Amino acid sequence: MTVPEVHPALAGRFSPVGFDATIDIDDQRVDTLLDAARHAPSAGNSQPWMFVVARRGDAVHQRIVPHLARSSSVWAPSASLLVANLAHVTIEGSDGWEYSEFARYDLGQAVAHMTVQALHLGFDAHQFRAFDREGLAAEFQIPSHWEVTSMTAFGVSAHAPGEARSPGTSRERAGRSDITWLRADRTQG
Ligand SMILES: Cc1cc2nc3c(=O)[nH]c(=O)nc-3n(C[C@H](O)[C@H](O)[C@H](O)COP(=O)(O)O)c2cc1C
Repeated sequence: MTVPEVHPALAGRFSPVGFDATIDIDDQRVDTLLDAARHAPSAGNSQPWMFVVARRGDAVHQRIVPHLARSSSVWAPSASLLVANLAHVTIEGSDGWEYSEFARYDLGQAVAHMTVQALHLGFDAHQFRAFDREGLAAEFQIPSHWEVTSMTAFGVSAHAPGEARSPGTSRERAGRSDITWLRADRTQG
C-alpha cells in the first residue's frame, strides 16, 4: 500500500530568508491570521497567547525592527507582517504561580495555525528567536506574567524553497522511524 501524501501546504512549507518587500498584507488578512490562532485548541481552553502585530512600515513595525538580531535584521524587515508571539506563563500578582503547564505548547500550536492559514492566503512564514526578547518586552510594556517567546515573519518568499538558508541550518528531517519510540509491528495482526 502506498503512503497517502502529506497535505501539499505542509509538504511545501519552508521558512524563507528573503521576503518580497513590494507585497503588502491588508488588515482583513491580518484579522484572518488572528482568527486562525483563536481556533487553536489549548489546555482547558486557557488560550494562553497574545500577539504584537506589525505591518511593514506601520508605527508598531518601526518599534519592533530595532530589536531584531543582526541575523534576522537581514531578512525579517522586508516581510509583509511581523508578529511577536507571547505566552501567558504565570498568574498576575501571584508569587510566580504557573498560569498553565502547557502555555508555550499551546502558543506554539496557535502559531502553527497562523502559519498554515497564511499559506492558504498565499503568504509564507518564518518563525524565529533571533531578536531581543527583553528589549521587546520593555518596548511594549509587556507585563511580567507574559513571556515574549518567539516571532513570526509573514510574507511572500523572494526565493524558491531550498535556494537560500539561514547560516548553519538544514532542512533535513529525521526519518519516520527516528521519531517513533514505539509502534506495533504492522506485519503482525
Ligand atoms: C521556535 C523557533 C525558533 C526559530 N528561530 C530561528 C532563528 O532565530 N533564526 C532563523 O533563521 N530561523 C529560526 N527558526 C526557523 C528554523 O530554523 C526552521 O524552521 C528549520 O531550520 C526548518 O526549516 P524549514 O522551516 O524551512 O522547514 C526557528 C523556528 C522555530 C519554530
